[in-house]
Amino acid sequence: MNDDRLITSEELEADTYEESIRPDLLSEYIGQSDVKENIRVFIEAAKMRDESLDHVLLYGPPGLGKTTLAYIIAHELGSNIKTASGPAIEKSGDLAAILSSLEPGDVLFIDEIHRMPSYVEEILYPAMEDFTLDIIVGGEGSSKNIRINLPPFTLVGATTRAGDLTSPLRDRFGIIAKLQYYTDEELTEIVKRTARVLNMDINDDAAFELASRSRGTPRIANRLFKRVRDFALVEGDGTITLDITKKALERLKVDNEGLDDTDHQLLRGIIEKFNGGPVGVESIASVIGEEVTTIEDVYEPYLLQQGFLKRTPRGRIVTEKAYRHLGLLYQNTLFDADISKDD
Ligand SMILES: Nc1ncnc2c1ncn2[C@@H]1O[C@H](COP(=O)(O)OP(=O)(O)OP(=O)(O)O)[C@@H](O)[C@H]1O
Ligand SMILES: [Mg+2]
Repeated sequence: MNDDRLITSEELEADTYEESIRPDLLSEYIGQSDVKENIRVFIEAAKMRDESLDHVLLYGPPGLGKTTLAYIIAHELGSNIKTASGPAIEKSGDLAAILSSLEPGDVLFIDEIHRMPSYVEEILYPAMEDFTLDIIVGGEGSSKNIRINLPPFTLVGATTRAGDLTSPLRDRFGIIAKLQYYTDEELTEIVKRTARVLNMDINDDAAFELASRSRGTPRIANRLFKRVRDFALVEGDGTITLDITKKALERLKVDNEGLDDTDHQLLRGIIEKFNGGPVGVESIASVIGEEVTTIEDVYEPYLLQQGFLKRTPRGRIVTEKAYRHLGLLYQNTLFDADISKDD
């Protein structure tokens, strides 16, 4: 395909397993049907007009397939992809260097684009809008501005927090796509695909069990698959059965709703220390010893989406569903009635 993906970006060397099971084509990308269909049309149209694809912003919780989709977009366009990560671009010169290395039609993928320093971000505005690069050359007193033309390219930005993007940056994306949590059925397909790619046999009921405990997230499904596969090899005859899957997930402490130890700690922490809430995210962070941003980006979205946690103007509250799930008696009815007025 292209050589760039082998040599760029820290994300790539981090997980070769993930790399090997990543789909290359839109047709292999499971789920996200709205996003997929729109992107298919935009890619087709760009090719017919022989123009570069409009800039694309992908957002959504971690592990839903933003990076994968960025590579697929480049592949479907028949273009090279260059990758960078927002927080790793420290100087405006770094971004200028990347931009001036682009070839016509290239895809520039910037991960965690909301974490780019603002003085770096400003370089992007004219680059995205007019394909120009304004740089300052020379030293103090004799410095001057020069403008360089860039080839038409497509910026694909990925972020877990679209709300943290400045509006001048957000406004320069022609295509904004939000990735959703996957259904159990879609994740089952992803698990089966992973099994196929890795030459493993998995029974249908086992694939569904694994999928339904993966928090709607392909990365988690694939990670759990890897562990369950080990159990099947060592303790079974190689085929991944429902029995082995359940046993493995129990050992991994992933419960039947896909919640792990940290989720349990978080919910129990709010119940035990704050009587179920409302409580601010900072207090939750200190109780379970995680960063606020990790709670907001990684743990909370799924708990909120599944209705274990509720966000109110006065803070987070643990819902009756969560008490039931944890096998605890729910006593917050009075308080809850009071809260609902604020919603
Ligand atoms: N739609 C999909 N179909 C099949 N596999 C998928 C799909 N989406 C993601 N995956 C798999 O899930 C893994 C994680 O996806 P990816 O790295 O693209 O997530 P991400 O959204 O970029 O996460 P992060 O925000 O943490 O960077 C990939 O290895 C890929 O194989
Ligand atoms: Mg990614």
